[in-house]
Amino acid sequence: MPVQPDAVVDQLARIVGAEQVLSAPDLMAAFVVDWTGRYRGDALAVVRPGCVAEVSAVLAMCSASGIPVVPQGGNTGLVGGSVPLANSGAVVLSLTRMNSMGPVDPVTGHVSVGAGATLAALQVHAHDAGWSFGVDLAGRDSATIGGMVATNAGGIHVVGNGMMRKQVLGVEAVLASGEVIRSMSGLAKNNTGYDLTQLLCGSEGTLGVITEVSLQLIRPRSTELIVAGCDSVEQALSIASRFIGKLAAAEIMDRAGLDAVSRVTGIVIPFPTAFHILVEVNGDIAPGELEDLEHVTLAMDSSERTKYWALRERITEAMAATSVGVSHKLDISVPLSDLDAVYREITTYLDQPGVRDVVLFGHLMDGNFHVFFTTDPDDTSLDAAVLELVAAHGGSISAEHGVGHMKADHLHLSRSAPEIAAMRGIKAALDPKGILNPGVLFTR
Ligand code: FAD
Ligand code: MLT
Ligand code: ZN
Repeated sequence: MPVQPDAVVDQLARIVGAEQVLSAPDLMAAFVVDWTGRYRGDALAVVRPGCVAEVSAVLAMCSASGIPVVPQGGNTGLVGGSVPLANSGAVVLSLTRMNSMGPVDPVTGHVSVGAGATLAALQVHAHDAGWSFGVDLAGRDSATIGGMVATNAGGIHVVGNGMMRKQVLGVEAVLASGEVIRSMSGLAKNNTGYDLTQLLCGSEGTLGVITEVSLQLIRPRSTELIVAGCDSVEQALSIASRFIGKLAAAEIMDRAGLDAVSRVTGIVIPFPTAFHILVEVNGDIAPGELEDLEHVTLAMDSSERTKYWALRERITEAMAATSVGVSHKLDISVPLSDLDAVYREITTYLDQPGVRDVVLFGHLMDGNFHVFFTTDPDDTSLDAAVLELVAAHGGSISAEHGVGHMKADHLHLSRSAPEIAAMRGIKAALDPKGILNPGVLFTR
């Protein structure tokens, strides 16, 4: 029998209360368009549960009726995975009310956090307890811990601390059926079969809805921030590699990205070079380690740090604000030995009529470039060509943002047929009716 939208809204309201179910188009508007504005869909309703029992009841109800469910955190994802597409008949399940923050264990640095808590809130909580959180990214004020686990987020400290999955000790999650799985004991050792917690890291809302996360915090470290100007990616790598083993961050920005930030913020670009790098080093820098460099400076205090980090972190926002046309955002990684060649191949390829606002920037020592450009009208064949070029170098079509709707058609470039079949088998086992985030990760 076809699903009756009013009946769905009534059933959801019985579970979470009428005030936590939105169904008017204007109220749902912000939940059905992604951060880039490129993915815009519709939904039967947006439901905002306040506890795991409510998430479980919503999923059991949707499962029984075959209603697709799109889990959503801060909606800062950059691959379209957090919103339904047009005519989806889906329910958006927003986790933002589930933002609890448990006490930090003073001995272990473990903390339990609701999936809907923002990264910024966790950072304050950890800081107040004398700890720090290992992952940081510019979307921190809105990005949620659940979304960051679901995307296995990266950010600026991967070179020092690893990605999100490395900070995760356990999760509580609700399967498509409504059943709850929970591994929140924080055990250092537990070899009892498949690691379902790690399976959920990077699953992009396709295997379960994460409701709570147990995280390992780290001790804050003092660092020095180097800003250097360089003429090539090769030179950037050679400077950053001097500090391997001590790196807390190593980022690269091209001239066009910095020009856009400078236009938006008024910050003066330090050097006249093609690239700038930010290299954050744990501990002190020995005298002489930088004296051979022509274009280099250290951040002298916290306001200089903030200024230099803004040059890097505000590129995404500056390109969104200053570019015109359809924006293309790719997120690729290649072996470091190929990074310089891949940079040159991508920029040469994109130097063609109809392509504007080309900016490459990203996480240098992770071999991870974010590739931004605009076209008008849309032309996805350019994205495909860049991704194929990356695959030819043994790279990944998604370094840290995930596959989402954006790259589902291209998954075969980074994963073999047997790997995709195994992943589909896992999906079918955990979500046999395919209600969780259909169209994300796999083509239908
Ligand atoms: P959403 O966007 O809401 O969702 C993302 C995906 O996770 C979707 O597939 C959704 O269905 C799923 N999901 C969300 N919550 C849950 C849940 N509780 N259970 C199951 N599935 C869920 N990313 C990086 O990796 N590194 C960066 O450096 C970085 N910088 C960014 C800078 C800016 C300015 C912006 C706007 C984004 C940036 N991002 C970055 C992308 C984004 O912030 C991350 O992907 C983040 O992890 C998404 O969190 P979210 O809560 O917004 O998730
Ligand atoms: C970043 O590192 O700033 C991001 O991942 C955001 C982007 O790719 O635009
Ligand atoms: Zn990034």
